[in-house]
Amino acid sequence: MANVILIGTQWGDEGKGKIVDLLTEWAEVVVRFQGGNNAGHTLVIDGQRYALHLIPSGIMRPEKICIIGSGVVIDLKILLEEIDLLQKQSGRDVLPQLILSDEAHLILESHRRLDQAREKQRGTAKIGTTGRGIGPAYESKMARWGLRLGDLLAPEAVLEARLKNLLEQHNLMLEKIYNEAPVSFAKVFAELKEAAAIVCPVIKKVPYELARCLEKNESILFEGAQGTLLDIDHGTYPFVTSSSTMAANACASSGVGVTDIDEVIGVVKAYTTRVGSGPFPVELDDEIGEHLSVRGGEVGTTTGRPRRCGWLDLVALRYAALLNGLNSFALTKLDVLSGLETIKVCTGYRLHGKIIEYFPSSIEDLEACEPVLSEFAGWDEDISAILDYDQLPENARKYVSYIEEQLGIKAMLVSVGPDREQTMIRHNPFVE
Ligand code: IMP
Repeated sequence: MANVILIGTQWGDEGKGKIVDLLTEWAEVVVRFQGGNNAGHTLVIDGQRYALHLIPSGIMRPEKICIIGSGVVIDLKILLEEIDLLQKQSGRDVLPQLILSDEAHLILESHRRLDQAREKQRGTAKIGTTGRGIGPAYESKMARWGLRLGDLLAPEAVLEARLKNLLEQHNLMLEKIYNEAPVSFAKVFAELKEAAAIVCPVIKKVPYELARCLEKNESILFEGAQGTLLDIDHGTYPFVTSSSTMAANACASSGVGVTDIDEVIGVVKAYTTRVGSGPFPVELDDEIGEHLSVRGGEVGTTTGRPRRCGWLDLVALRYAALLNGLNSFALTKLDVLSGLETIKVCTGYRLHGKIIEYFPSSIEDLEACEPVLSEFAGWDEDISAILDYDQLPENARKYVSYIEEQLGIKAMLVSVGPDREQTMIRHNPFVE
């Protein structure tokens, strides 16, 4: 039995969905603890593609319990659509596998509208949010007028009063600041009641549910969304998401003690990508960037936007390793680098003529940073069918070893394609 946290170490889209799906084989319970439907996980199982935004990827395995913790912001419309789609695709009822925290906050139409209105107002300075209402939902939570999933269990008059209070604030902002039409209370209220009829049976107090799992010695996998550099505290603020994407938040935002965690795994893509605006020192605007984009299929699962691509950034990764206390990493998409004559890796930044090895907090400094690059010889072979790590081309193994050396931790697996089978597991925390 082991409790494992898996998080993204870059700007999201590291391939977490596949790794979570794979490791779920050994975990009884999968927990999402932050973010919302800004996330997008693509899974390929037996050649069929599945895109999930809110429900943990563990749902694909019928015997697993999937929990959405208090730190997640839930858009019920999306949740119901996802449940519906999964039921149609799998031919089974997935609701009994789900547990939703009564403390999780809701994303309403007014949050989505505010997100979009603010981005419009920011113009060229926009963050490039997913437009899903994530930021405004976390704002409501912190402002202490947010609506929680547990409010759906309250008497109708209580829900009505809370929703009225929230929409009063939101409609004032929409009308007076952004010159937008107000959101209809009656419509949102009716939608909430309709959704409540479906989800109420699976709304529970998650910390007690997790305590019961721990008591039974069940293994728990905590599934992070987005990535370390999009973290609200330590990421490239303000070009970040509005939640804490750190491993430590897995405990706080689901309700387990930090002493219950056995291993923290960081997912590292073999190169770097970023969606939306914000500084990105290793970005490539040339044919190599194009190679990574095309070969890596680097298009957002949630918004369909093309991802910006660049070399692996070890300054950023070393920062992610220390912020999350990583024990190991999962290296994804190594196959995408096949065919490149030379592979470069950023080992430091040059800032105003000086070499720095830390990740700056100020975006002005980060924007002024030029990457200091080391070069490696590439490999030509298609490695996507290799199942044994020792069979990888020598240069590919050298690349992996170099990353291990730089981060001071081992690659617990190497992934060379989207399918479950295309993975070389070198260390499995659930069985060792
Ligand atoms: P928000 O989370 O929609 O507020 O967007 C804030 C920033 O985080 C934008 O740059 C988004 O592109 C980025 N972002 C949010 N979720 C993800 C994700 O799952 N993968 C990659 N980038 C994301």
